[in-house]
Amino acid sequence: MTEPASLPVVHTVADLRAVVRDWKRQGLTVGMVPTMGALHEGHLTLVREAGRRADRVVASNFVNPTQFAANEDLGRYPRRQEEDARLLAGAGCHLMFAPTPEEMYPQGFATSVAVAGPALGLEGDFRPQMFGGVALVVTKLFNQVQPDVAVFGEKDYQQLMVIRRFVRDLDLPVEIIGAPTQRDETGLALSSRNDYLSDAELAVARRLNVILAEAAAGAAAGRPLPGVERDAYSAILKAGFERIDYVAVRHAEDLSPFRDGVVDAPARILAAAWLGKTRLIDNRAV
Ligand code: PAF
Repeated sequence: MTEPASLPVVHTVADLRAVVRDWKRQGLTVGMVPTMGALHEGHLTLVREAGRRADRVVASNFVNPTQFAANEDLGRYPRRQEEDARLLAGAGCHLMFAPTPEEMYPQGFATSVAVAGPALGLEGDFRPQMFGGVALVVTKLFNQVQPDVAVFGEKDYQQLMVIRRFVRDLDLPVEIIGAPTQRDETGLALSSRNDYLSDAELAVARRLNVILAEAAAGAAAGRPLPGVERDAYSAILKAGFERIDYVAVRHAEDLSPFRDGVVDAPARILAAAWLGKTRLIDNRAV
């Protein structure tokens, strides 16, 4: 097997723009995959998808401080940019943009992007900082790269809905593609935060998607949602999770609750639960 050629990496917006300008001058289309690094097969699937939809692919690699609250895992979030660049090259990426925090948020930075609608509730209740930070950094990345298309994973399903909404609301000229969650052979959703888990915790983590799939089947069969959610909640605790932030069935598009307590339109079951200091999220279509 031959090693993939090394990947060009830029760290400043000026250098990024020079490369993208040159591509656009040649009439090439640009796809983008925003990431926080610590890449795994899930991210690489997004890069390949972007490569199918555009002539050139940029992946950003930036652990975005504005989406972490003070008590969250910004400091211990895994960082391995050299390895990331190697993986990206192998997946057909053409450029990695790895800005510093100062490049993204210069002294005196004073702007925010606030999203309501699908950002309210679920993650929004437990990580109130999160979607403002995501909307801000993704808006900036889109302005910097000016991609024709951007690909995000359904693993962060609420994030995907929030991004679709502010892209529409702000008339950002980029097509948003959602790609299915990548799972290991047991169904565990691939996540950079799986790196934090011990073997014993991994065994527990692997139960989450099974419980959500069973709950989704019950909801799809017309079981009343309070019972579906209550049973899933108990099953997640019984599996060994220590704490649950939420487990809820919501409308697939805007994530609003089902008023009549049964599923009568496309739906999603979403959950966030804790194993030690690690918070895992997952979701399944109903
Ligand atoms: O999903 C992520 O990794 C991040 O939230 C994103 C979209 C790269 C913004 O920092």
